[in-house]
Order: sequence, then structure tokens, then C-alpha cells
Amino acid sequence: MSSRKHHWENIYKTKDYKKVGWYQESPEISLELLSKIHAEPSQSVIDVGCGTSVLVDNLIKKGFRDITLVDLSEEALLAIKDRLGNKGNIPNYLSQDITKTTFTRTFDIWHDRAVFHFLTDANDRKDYMLTLSRSLSNDGWAIIGTFSLNGPRTCSGLDIVQYDEDKMNLELSPDLELEDSVTSIHVMPNGKEQEYMYFIIRHEK
Ligand SMILES: C[S@@+](CC[C@H](N)C(=O)[O-])C[C@H]1O[C@@H](n2cnc3c(N)ncnc32)[C@H](O)[C@@H]1O
Repeated sequence: MSSRKHHWENIYKTKDYKKVGWYQESPEISLELLSKIHAEPSQSVIDVGCGTSVLVDNLIKKGFRDITLVDLSEEALLAIKDRLGNKGNIPNYLSQDITKTTFTRTFDIWHDRAVFHFLTDANDRKDYMLTLSRSLSNDGWAIIGTFSLNGPRTCSGLDIVQYDEDKMNLELSPDLELEDSVTSIHVMPNGKEQEYMYFIIRHEK
């Protein structure tokens, strides 16, 4: 098992997922941005590094059925499946490292909250962006949330890379166009605040 996977499996095995720093009772900002890009329930969505996020619960409620969940942690995916009960068979679950994944299909919408920012190695970022670019359908959208330049420098005890528009633009391949960005304050379960920046990216072919 890679040390990366070991770190995350250990988190989800030993912690109450409602107490981790990134926990959101409701993924308001993601839902807002999905509505901003006019996401429709007929579209396919991939939540990269979904952890135990309740985004999928919200998507199912809205009628989305083509949902793919990817996370390094099998424990996190099992927790979602368990939580969804009789809707647990709707998403496709993939326990994989997104920097080492190739999909045999495309997605209309790519969502990533607090995953890309863990990629401190430039080669991992390149692999991530290559997968993103190959996996987004024509005119598809990506929503990527990272800590902002005013946000923390670590997340879950791991170093991260903070982003603003200029830094994100340097990571994007020519077919990925940064359309907009939004800052958002996340209040952690312990009451502390963290500043995120969400990037809305369009795939142009
Ligand atoms: C800070 S948590 C965010 C979880 C979720 N996106 C949310 O907003 O609640 C980061 C998640 O990304 C997953 N992760 C980290 N690196 C990953 C990678 N290279 N590939 C896939 N998942 C990864 C972790 O297992 C963890 O669940």
C-alpha cells in the first residue's frame, strides 16, 4: 500500500468523518457552482477524492444517476455506500489514485474539493491534468477547490499547494480554460475558518 493511501485509510478508519476538518454538513458552494455551470441531472459527474462528502447524496436527490466516486480510501467509499442505503448502488465506486488512473469513458462534470492541492510533485500535477483533459467531454466543466493563498499551508497534516488564478493557470493545458474563480470560507467542525478558492474550468476542444 502506498504511503499516501495508508495515510487516508488510517484517517477514515480512526476518525468520525463528521469531525474531520474538511467536513461539510452541506456542500453549499459546490452546489452553487454546479448551478452556475447549469449542471443537469442527465449529465455525468465524477467526484475526485470524494472522501465521505455528502455531495453525492445531494446529486442523487437532484436526480443525477451517472455518478462516479473516486478516492484512495476504500474505507471512505464504503462509508458512503453504507450511508446511501438503498441508493448505494447508484454511484460507481473506484478506489484509485487519481494521478495513476486512466478512464475508458468521459465525464461532463469533474468535481474536486481539496484533492488537487495535495499534489506537491509537479509530475503528479501533470498526470492529474492529463487525466482531467482526457476525461472531460467536449465542453465539459471542472470545478476544483483548493486552499487559497490566504488559506492554510497544510491539510490533514500534509503539505499542500495554495492556489490563486495565476498559479492555477500555470497548471492548465491549452484545452482547459479557467472561466472563473470564487473564494469561499469553510468553517471547520472546531469552529476555525479556512479560505478556499474554487476554480471553474471549461474544456475546449
Ligand atoms: C481533504 S479530503 C476531501 C474529501 C472530499 N472531497 C470533501 O470535500 O469532503 C481529501 C480526499 O482526497 C483523497 N485523496 C487524496 N489524494 C488522492 C489521490 N491522489 N487520488 C484519489 N484520492 C485522493 C483522500 O482519501 C481524501 O478522501
